[in-house]
Amino acid sequence: MSRFTDRIAVVTGAAQGIGAATAQRLAEEGASVAVVDLTAERAQATVDAITAKGGVARAYGCDVTDYEAVEAVFAQIAEDFGAIHILVNNAGITRDNLFFKMPKTDWDAVITVNLTSVYNCSHVAQKYMCAQKWGKIVSLSSRSALGNRGQANYAAAKAGIQGFTATLAIELGPFNINVNAVAPGYIATSMTAATAERVGASAEDHQAEVAGRTPLRRVGQPEDIAAVVAFLASEDASYVSGQTLYVNGGAR
Ligand SMILES: NC(=O)c1ccc[n+]([C@@H]2O[C@H](COP(=O)([O-])OP(=O)(O)OC[C@H]3O[C@@H](n4cnc5c(N)ncnc54)[C@H](O)[C@@H]3O)[C@@H](O)[C@H]2O)c1
Repeated sequence: MSRFTDRIAVVTGAAQGIGAATAQRLAEEGASVAVVDLTAERAQATVDAITAKGGVARAYGCDVTDYEAVEAVFAQIAEDFGAIHILVNNAGITRDNLFFKMPKTDWDAVITVNLTSVYNCSHVAQKYMCAQKWGKIVSLSSRSALGNRGQANYAAAKAGIQGFTATLAIELGPFNINVNAVAPGYIATSMTAATAERVGASAEDHQAEVAGRTPLRRVGQPEDIAAVVAFLASEDASYVSGQTLYVNGGAR
């Protein structure tokens, strides 16, 4: 069964990691996918992976912190594909540091890329979704929203996404738009490889250490998150809205 036949999905930060896996999962289940990342060139590898399997996708370059750029690229996507049904707010960065050493520039960068971009993309996408009375918005929060040493900026942004999600669900529900968030734990991507490097560990050793204290005894893979995003973007979750679903192998 193809859950996303005739659906148009936009996935931000989809050149690699969780975004790439999500774009591929949605395409495998029938969606036409706009693969958005900082440049179209960066996004092209994900498009190639999708089209190699017979899926439909197109690469778009856009810095999602720039509202006018988002407006322009979403207009282009709507023109190319005919609609925007599903938005996955996935683009994100980390700039970890203990708070007393955290420069204002790193606070601003993380809030802008992880949280303001979610305002930008959701604000533009809801215009299309309200008009068609159908939409799904899924945003990437994080387990770090509950607090994580060295991530005051990132935790604030990811907790902000949870409040934003709960509120948008109330406001957009009457337009048949579901708004949810996924809060992953440790997922093996470039982002966590960079964390490992920062603490002087190899990616493998870092993952083994995290797996050892995770109830399911492994770290997550991008596909684990893609499957949950796909669920929330599908009609299987048509009565789920305003929720943040933690996907972290059972860790507290
Ligand atoms: N990896 C994890 O363990 C983990 C855990 C919890 C939450 N998350 C969240 O999941 C999302 C994806 O994480 P990932 O690990 O795949 O990260 P990643 O670093 O592998 O990929 C992030 C992508 O976002 C893109 N991006 C960054 N800034 C952008 C901008 N301004 N405009 C457009 N694209 C931009 C990057 O180019 C990159 O392709 C992020 O929001 C992240 O915070 C990740």
